Amino acid sequence: MNNTRFQLLLLVLLALAMTHLFNAQANAQGHYDEPYRPQFHFTPEKNWMNDPNGLVFYKGEYHLFYQYNPFGNSWGHMSWGHAVSKDLVHWQHLPVALAEENGVMIFSGSAVVDWNNSSGLCKSSDPKDKSCLVAIYTGHIEGKNQSQHIAVSNDRGRTWTKFPGNPVIDIGYKDFRDPKVIWHEATKRWVMVVSLSKEQKVRFYGSPNLKQWELLSEFGPAGVKHDKMLWECPDLFELPVEGQPGQGKKTRWVLIVNINPGGVAGGSGGQYFIGNFDGRKFTNDNPNDTALFVDHGKDFYAGVTFSDVSDGRRILIGWMSNWQYAGKEPTSAFRTAQSIPRVLGLRQTAAGIRLVQQPIPELKTLRDNTTVLEAVNILASYAPKDLMVGDALELVAEYEVGKDSTAVIRLRSESSETVIGYDAATGKLFIDRTRSGDVGFHPNFAGRHEAALAPKQGRIKLHVLVDRSSVEVFGNDGEVALTDRIFPPSPKQHVELDGNAKCLSLQGWQLRSIWK
Ligand code: FRU
Repeated sequence: MNNTRFQLLLLVLLALAMTHLFNAQANAQGHYDEPYRPQFHFTPEKNWMNDPNGLVFYKGEYHLFYQYNPFGNSWGHMSWGHAVSKDLVHWQHLPVALAEENGVMIFSGSAVVDWNNSSGLCKSSDPKDKSCLVAIYTGHIEGKNQSQHIAVSNDRGRTWTKFPGNPVIDIGYKDFRDPKVIWHEATKRWVMVVSLSKEQKVRFYGSPNLKQWELLSEFGPAGVKHDKMLWECPDLFELPVEGQPGQGKKTRWVLIVNINPGGVAGGSGGQYFIGNFDGRKFTNDNPNDTALFVDHGKDFYAGVTFSDVSDGRRILIGWMSNWQYAGKEPTSAFRTAQSIPRVLGLRQTAAGIRLVQQPIPELKTLRDNTTVLEAVNILASYAPKDLMVGDALELVAEYEVGKDSTAVIRLRSESSETVIGYDAATGKLFIDRTRSGDVGFHPNFAGRHEAALAPKQGRIKLHVLVDRSSVEVFGNDGEVALTDRIFPPSPKQHVELDGNAKCLSLQGWQLRSIWK
């Protein structure tokens, strides 16, 4: 090797070492290691975040855009923050994709792959690939107007150009937002579902090119009733119903409508409707007042799904907070987190067809240090006291339950505790965060949140994810979900089992951080 080459190699090695040192230093300085900092959930490095936006899979990458204030730790200057992932587990931060400009904030919306350049905005020079990414979002002028806009990216989402003909839909309204666009194969056109928030309605529009839109129909009010409630962040998709004869053949459409305030336990939450969408109109299978909830905890809002996932999975992410107290959450320099991506399905249950959700299987790649409860078939309260200790944990347990059984998983942190449990007498799965640590920052934070869960052949299954400041609980293979934030005195939680239900199996893992 000649001298210059050797010097070049040295320089490269030095640069690599510096990068590593920089990351290590950042971690040592508490970067992504603050006491409430989630270790396997997405959070921006700093500043305020709310809804997930523009979820789309394209050329090997999952894109997560999100409502973001680039200038501070509270809501304002809304723009689209951006991150990409190859596995939905590890995220790489990218610069702000769409920024507030000329007094127009970038509110929530979606993104699609325009595979055939229907918009005429794709600039590909490859005759075999005409595609580009198109984002569809609400342009918000404070106190004046909300209208629908589009922007295009011809470099895999790295840079974006707002369409000069914006807005593409403007009806002169102040509360008209959060467009979700899908490709409707049967009618071969784009369909947008967008909310008339104060009217508690969604509107459906159709378009051949993402630029000209025709009003098709409206749906709502329906489901949860509340005078002051707003409808926000809708989503629309078709899914096969599990376990039907001719598996996968019967499909239904799901219309998600996020509601603020309202929700099962107060504040903001998500409801959904099951029915049919014929390309123009959504027809509800259930009576108009049937209320179905996406998640029964207090911290799952603005849940929307990815577009264009190559393996056909329908994957949902929700914002792990609640408008009642989001701005008061005791974290800095970041505020709020996104949920774990969840794979959705539809299942025929005794009560009817229901949305089911399970954490993405990719999460298993983070599992480390397995704990298995050896003495199965014991009463839960006889299990060793400190079953597991850690700040990022996953647990899968199955119990046999009689009519008065209780099954409890207690997360103890110093003298505080978060109680996850099942009470067979009431048939409810719950998270009780009344004494979970810092609960005093808002009067609506402390509390117990529950959901009905029926045993199957006398058994219930729990799947629990704990990540420093969050708990997600899935009951009976995703038939119900509960998501709650917690702010315990120490990031490490001690797992204890309690109750008189017979624990048939339990496996637990510490999960590795995605940030180190
Ligand atoms: C929902 C929401 C949306 C809006 C965005 C603004 O959380 O209120 O309706 O687009 O947040 O940040």
